[in-house]
Amino acid sequence: MDHSIQVSPSIRTKEGDEWKNRQVPSRMPSRIAQIRLVSGHPEVYEPCDDSFALVDALLADRMYLLEHKPVLCMEVGCGSGYVITSLAIMLGQGEDVGGIHYFATDINPHAVRVTCETLEAHGVHAEVICDNVASSGLEKRLGGKVDVMVVNPPYVPTPEDEVGRDGIASAWAGGENGRTVIDRILPVADKLLSDRGWLYMVTLTANNPSQICLVMREKGYASRIVVQRSTEEESLHVIKFWRDPDLQVGAAKDPSMATTQRTTSAVVMDSLLSQFPLLSFWRNNNNSST
Ligand SMILES: C[S@@+](CC[C@H](N)C(=O)[O-])C[C@H]1O[C@@H](n2cnc3c(N)ncnc32)[C@H](O)[C@@H]1O
Repeated sequence: MDHSIQVSPSIRTKEGDEWKNRQVPSRMPSRIAQIRLVSGHPEVYEPCDDSFALVDALLADRMYLLEHKPVLCMEVGCGSGYVITSLAIMLGQGEDVGGIHYFATDINPHAVRVTCETLEAHGVHAEVICDNVASSGLEKRLGGKVDVMVVNPPYVPTPEDEVGRDGIASAWAGGENGRTVIDRILPVADKLLSDRGWLYMVTLTANNPSQICLVMREKGYASRIVVQRSTEEESLHVIKFWRDPDLQVGAAKDPSMATTQRTTSAVVMDSLLSQFPLLSFWRNNNNSST
């Protein structure tokens, strides 16, 4: 099966049961994955703009990912398997860059089945388990071992009682500010990531991404936005986190550091904005709310 295509279209298309990715910037390799929908279930999240944004972020970082030489890649909340399969293919599963292990987890058993079928259809091997990442005890097995983690979490603001429900609701219900599941995943990610681990996470403006960056900064992670995408309905960001030895872990937890914390927040925001002028509306929103 040929996993790679020359990419030229500038928008994403769905042809029959097949998804095609967006245009790859010219500095990126033009060989990307073409993932086929071989299976599905009404209770399983079909790849959507957020899934595509996450894969586009991974594509944008593909050369860095290859140089990074991850040993263990993991997806939390794999849904249809579109993202983990794309990641494995773009990192050359089946080609001469072996040695990468893939691991995926989802709380929804139907998603686990669909992911397994997607992986299998594309010749990708991964271990897929049905588990709630927030209470799974995965740390015993994978603690400090994950070099690349990808997450498209349930981020939609909803009433708290919708979080963790069975079925498709678990794909989007994010609780207050869409942060309930995200805030459960962040400490787990910190425990699972290796010293050189990278985390790619999809967030929505309503999730307060700059505050998420701050939370991770307190754990010693630097961050940058890899992809930002706005629609009429929402503004998505894919943020990459990595450990920065120069950051003082937990510094902002000290009340005497309150001023520093505010300063840090501003620095994080400025850093994000300076990289992405399109996000200047964040600054406007921020100013109007303070
Ligand atoms: C927005 S969907 C993303 C699916 C897929 N990764 C994609 O991008 O198309 C979120 C996924 O996270 C799963 N999920 C929600 N809470 C979870 C938890 N606590 N542990 C593991 N998976 C979870 C959902 O079942 C759903 O499949």
